[in-house]
Amino acid sequence: MSIDRAARILRRGGLVAFPTETVYGLGANALDARAVRRIFKVKGRPLRNPLIVHVASIKQASTLVSRLPEEAKRLMRRFWPGPLTIVLPKSVRVPSVTTAGLATVAIRMPNHPLALRLLRRANVPVAAPSANRSGGPSPTTAQHVLEDLGDRVDYVLDGGPTKLGLESTVVDLSRWPPVLLRPGAITAEQLSRVLGVRVRRAPRSRRSPGMRYRHYAPRTPLRFGNASRIQTLLRRTKKSVGLILTRSRGLRGMVTTTLGPALRNVARGLYGAVRELDKRGLDLIVVEAVPERGIGHAIMNRLRKAGKPL
Ligand code: TXA
Ligand code: MG
Repeated sequence: MSIDRAARILRRGGLVAFPTETVYGLGANALDARAVRRIFKVKGRPLRNPLIVHVASIKQASTLVSRLPEEAKRLMRRFWPGPLTIVLPKSVRVPSVTTAGLATVAIRMPNHPLALRLLRRANVPVAAPSANRSGGPSPTTAQHVLEDLGDRVDYVLDGGPTKLGLESTVVDLSRWPPVLLRPGAITAEQLSRVLGVRVRRAPRSRRSPGMRYRHYAPRTPLRFGNASRIQTLLRRTKKSVGLILTRSRGLRGMVTTTLGPALRNVARGLYGAVRELDKRGLDLIVVEAVPERGIGHAIMNRLRKAGKPL
């Protein structure tokens, strides 16, 4: 069976791309420094950008940390399996290449049946960044993984399109009060409620290491803004524009994709739409902005990393 094969490859130090509820991950045994080094190489990822370690249980997570605070356990019980990555002080078991030399490790238990079966079967923690070339949009289908990484990966588990479409929330619990390093489907407000303390968004200088790099960006220049700014641009420009619309109708680019107003659908469809337009040889990709509530924070965060405001 495919899961058995994928698990065997992981145990032998190979690379397996697999679906999660957020985006596809490129996995290797997190405790095998050689295997993890290959992830960086295949992705073209800077060695200073640490990886998320995926686990099948809270018990397995506890083997990766030097201590597991009660607050972390509370978050795990409430949100795992799910799109929440928790940063904690690492144990000596975790090789430094996995955490890019940091004293902390980022851990999450994904909410996807194939991912969970793979993790259980492999019976090792699995380091997995998004399975794209470094800097580009994350993959939300197995096809995206193949387009980006092709035969540089030993195995691709196909679980169809991912449900959420944006990467997990990252919260740093190695300090108190905790800090939100990357917004995602689980919001700062949800975390604050469970922890009983206000979880702050990281100031720009103290973002997650990965947030310093160019990220999520297509090759085609990307801009984002509200409908009226888009309309003004379309009236004035001679450039060929690919449009990704959310709430408004009636605007027309050279190519137009409509994701609809529901923020979940925008999150789910955004990377796929950007990838499609990126293949068209356009001068510009323009995305209609969304309100910053719920997962809207995460959507706007990724757009700011991928391009510039109109
Ligand atoms: O949804 C997700 O999180 C997906 C799936 C595959 O699980 N993974 C993912 O991985 O998005 P990646 O490598 O693309 O993003 C990991 C983020 C980066 O911003 C990285 O800097 C941050 O997590 N990170 C990892 N370890 C960290 C640590 N010890 N301290 C602070 N940030 C860390
Ligand atoms: Mg990534």
